[in-house]
Amino acid sequence: LARPTQLVCVIRHQFSTSSKSRSQKDAKVAVLGAAGGIGQPLSLLLKCQPLISHLNLYDIAHTPGVAADLSHIETRAKVKGFLGEEQLRQCLEGAQVVVIPAGVPRKPGMTRDDLFNTNAGIVRDLTDAIADVCPKAMVCIITNPVNSTVPIASEVLKRRGVYDPKRVFGVTTLDVVRSNTFISQIKGLDLTKTNCPVIGGHSGITIIPLISQCTPPVSFPTEERAKLTERIQNAGTEVVEAKAGAGSATLSMAFAAAEFTKTLIEALNGMEGKVQCAYVRSDETEAKYFATPVLLGKEGIEKNLGMGKLLDFEVSLLKAAMPELIKNIEKGEEFVAKTY
Ligand code: NAD
Ligand code: LMR
Repeated sequence: LARPTQLVCVIRHQFSTSSKSRSQKDAKVAVLGAAGGIGQPLSLLLKCQPLISHLNLYDIAHTPGVAADLSHIETRAKVKGFLGEEQLRQCLEGAQVVVIPAGVPRKPGMTRDDLFNTNAGIVRDLTDAIADVCPKAMVCIITNPVNSTVPIASEVLKRRGVYDPKRVFGVTTLDVVRSNTFISQIKGLDLTKTNCPVIGGHSGITIIPLISQCTPPVSFPTEERAKLTERIQNAGTEVVEAKAGAGSATLSMAFAAAEFTKTLIEALNGMEGKVQCAYVRSDETEAKYFATPVLLGKEGIEKNLGMGKLLDFEVSLLKAAMPELIKNIEKGEEFVAKTY
């Protein structure tokens, strides 16, 4: 087994940029919900990210311990913990990127929408504080149901007069990470070169992997393609069931969010060609929010790259997804209209 110091070195190496791509700029990142199942490993990975100079950790419990622990790691990010609502605004001061994994996770038998009643208010209130303190920050929302929490955050920012659709992201990277893993396992591909875009939303049938657009190109018999698609759509539930009541994906999510955050910071620093799939304000379909690959730049989304050409099979997935996605979006918007 690797000793902790070796482990940190491995992680640090994995997440460090090559000297060619290293940016001189510093990034100040805040994690809201930093003491949770996702928050802790995500904060560890961000602490190991050389582009980050300041890492502020907020939660309603346990942040002093998490921050003290992480602050002993010999990487450059300066870690500070903030506890309880009275310290939330202080945590957000100067943040360029805010990552939000605050809120309850699923237990077996629940849908992501079943989390709405608890998590909607959490995201609303955290976004309200962002509007006060760091309205220009990039807001990266992990909290489920993402299909609704992104509209909630957007509506709050709109009402506060600081909404910039280029700066609000639903983090759907885990769907891409899973697609890449499953496809490369089946086809024996080099994982580092496998990339399958995933569009739509982040729940069950709204998750639409575009296997036809995978790099390198892959082909599957119809039945196998359908089975793989279903596995990707249900991968979150696979983890929820395996954890048997102890929560949902945390480690793979932390990895995915760290990857997304790193790419975003690189783009903010002026690196070109940085693309991630994310659930964003969109004109691609009749759903106001929709995940597609987006080109990131110094001001957030530079260009929505759209969904490209779909196979008939993928068109049918898209048709099946729309009613649920639109319903989830409206639910989020109505929540803000009624409670904010
Ligand atoms: P968790 O219960 O382990 O951690 C949540 C943390 O949020 C806790 O530390 C809790 O104290 C904190 N919290 C609660 N209310 C808060 C508030 N008002 N302000 C700040 N912090 C608050 O849960 P988890 O496993 O880390 O999951 C967090 C969320 O992420 C869930 O909603 C889950 O469904 C979601 N999730 C999303 C994806 C995705 O792909 N987007 C993947 C996995 C999990
Ligand atoms: C996931 O996809 O793993 C997350 O959305 C958590 C969940 O509830 O499945």
